[in-house]
Amino acid sequence: MAGRYPPQWLDELRQRADIVSVIGSYVQLKKNGHRYSGLCPFHNETAPSFSVDSQKQFYYCFGCKASGSVIQFVMDIEHLSFPEAVEHLAEQLHLPLPEMQNDPAYEKRRSLKERIYLANKAAARLYHQYLWQKEGEEILQYLKKRGLSDGVIRRFGIGAAPPRPDIGKKLMEDGFTKEELLSAGLMMERDGRSFDMFRNRAMFPIIDAYGNVLGFGGRAMGDAMPKYLNTSDTPAFNKRYNVFAANLLRKARGLERVILVEGYMDVVALSQYGVEGVAATLGTALTPEQARLLSRYAPEVHIAYDGDKAGQKAILRGLEVLEAANVPVKVLDFPGGLDPDEFIRQEGVEAFHALKPISGVYYRMLREKEKHDMSTEEGRTAYAKACADFLKNVREPVDLENYLKRLSLESGFDREVLLQQIGAAPAKPSPALPKQESFRQKAKKVAQVDWTGRTLLAVLATGKLPPGSVTPEDFDDPVLKSLCKDLLSGESPASLMEQQPDEQGRSAIGDILSVNTDMDDDGLMHMARDCLKKMRRTRLENELETLQKSMASLPQEEQVRSMQRALELTRLISEQK
Ligand code: UTP
Ligand code: MN
Repeated sequence: MAGRYPPQWLDELRQRADIVSVIGSYVQLKKNGHRYSGLCPFHNETAPSFSVDSQKQFYYCFGCKASGSVIQFVMDIEHLSFPEAVEHLAEQLHLPLPEMQNDPAYEKRRSLKERIYLANKAAARLYHQYLWQKEGEEILQYLKKRGLSDGVIRRFGIGAAPPRPDIGKKLMEDGFTKEELLSAGLMMERDGRSFDMFRNRAMFPIIDAYGNVLGFGGRAMGDAMPKYLNTSDTPAFNKRYNVFAANLLRKARGLERVILVEGYMDVVALSQYGVEGVAATLGTALTPEQARLLSRYAPEVHIAYDGDKAGQKAILRGLEVLEAANVPVKVLDFPGGLDPDEFIRQEGVEAFHALKPISGVYYRMLREKEKHDMSTEEGRTAYAKACADFLKNVREPVDLENYLKRLSLESGFDREVLLQQIGAAPAKPSPALPKQESFRQKAKKVAQVDWTGRTLLAVLATGKLPPGSVTPEDFDDPVLKSLCKDLLSGESPASLMEQQPDEQGRSAIGDILSVNTDMDDDGLMHMARDCLKKMRRTRLENELETLQKSMASLPQEEQVRSMQRALELTRLISEQK
């Protein structure tokens, strides 16, 4: 994960981005030795169990086990990917990114991108101003007719591109070059002349999670074509990787689900009715990148596409994409071919909340049923066969049982017959879930690791022990042994956490290293010596125990040798006390 940045550079970033001050800007921290404590920002609590270790530069929550380096903290609190969090911190610290340090092409690309953001932001401001002026009168009227309130227009920064716009001219007066405006997709060129790209349209700025204006969606007045004109991909905008209203998603905390809709208007309407955590794709089919982006904001995605035929097809595709990305997904099925905008305006917000999200499998069954004439045996048979195909992928036995009951009722086939049919259908490879098993196992293993070994490692992680005081051979547990090797090779606790593939791995390390090591160097040395002594004694005691157990079954001459060894062990053990 950290692979694209040189380790030394990351070390410098971590050092400069002092974890206490970074976390301190989000969480009120109280100093307590090397450690600071506060209320955990990742779960609800009233008594502080969140601790930040300034010495080892990591945080650990004794309640929810959240833990990691300063970079991990920024990723989780700001919903960023690893590289995004790194860039975010680097920017705040004015630390040039490694690739920027010696790549002029990169620098050029980056600065064009910055210019496009600036031009877009200036354009968004101008469009928004026009909306309240004479030039935007008709467009404002249109938005009002569609039921938009002033508040929601402001929240989304909706604007007006007048019929005879002069945004390009104005931006050039402000110092943007024509090339920059062409690259931003704000202007276009035809027959050697340049024009504003958007005219006579209601303008929806597309804003990313950090407030950059990436581009626009422009809604035509009346039936003009195309209905929506979107900024095409630019050096600063790629539709694959972004969604509409990401800026609001980021602000919403503790979302239980993200609602994914098709249109700009759907997002805006739901927001106006107080429904939070809604986003839309940008005029293209849902991509795996967008699926992952959405999964950063909530544990589940609810697809709420238009209820018409096209929407239904898009839902089935969306289910595939989200399932393939291992994102839990449900569907909101709107009756009568309505879209969310129309539904909430006609039926009200209570009706919207009363809609029960349905599972992907159930949704597929509903759609499948419509294809068959269920009054005939052929129809019911074909329906049962098709459903058996979806049901193969159901992992939870109780869910499967519910679907089977329903299918049996609908198709008339016995549960056992249906089960056979499911088994008979060739199995599809199931999505990669077993990974989760392995980290659970790993966490369990680490939890059983002995306290003394953990303490010794925590002392080692302070970096205060003289070289050679602790070696990997001092540890019996393979997890502790390998952690010890890593620490001795100069890895910091923070970077070790970053190398973990998942949260469980980080928690495991956080758990081990969170042992309090708040004392002076002498104290640390004593603590280490005590641990080593105790570990040695445990090892001797274990050997003695095994020896005594096996003694009786040994041949005579070996029994004698074992007896001698046992006596020696007893002596060594008493010496360790
Ligand atoms: P819809 O046609 O469902 O539009 O397209 P809508 O959201 O219901 O809009 P209104 O209510 O008629 O104004 C859904 C989305 O598909 C993309 C846009 O992102 C739109 O919001 N789209 C649609 C385009 O990009 N271009 C088009 O010409 C039409
Ligand atoms: Mn629609």
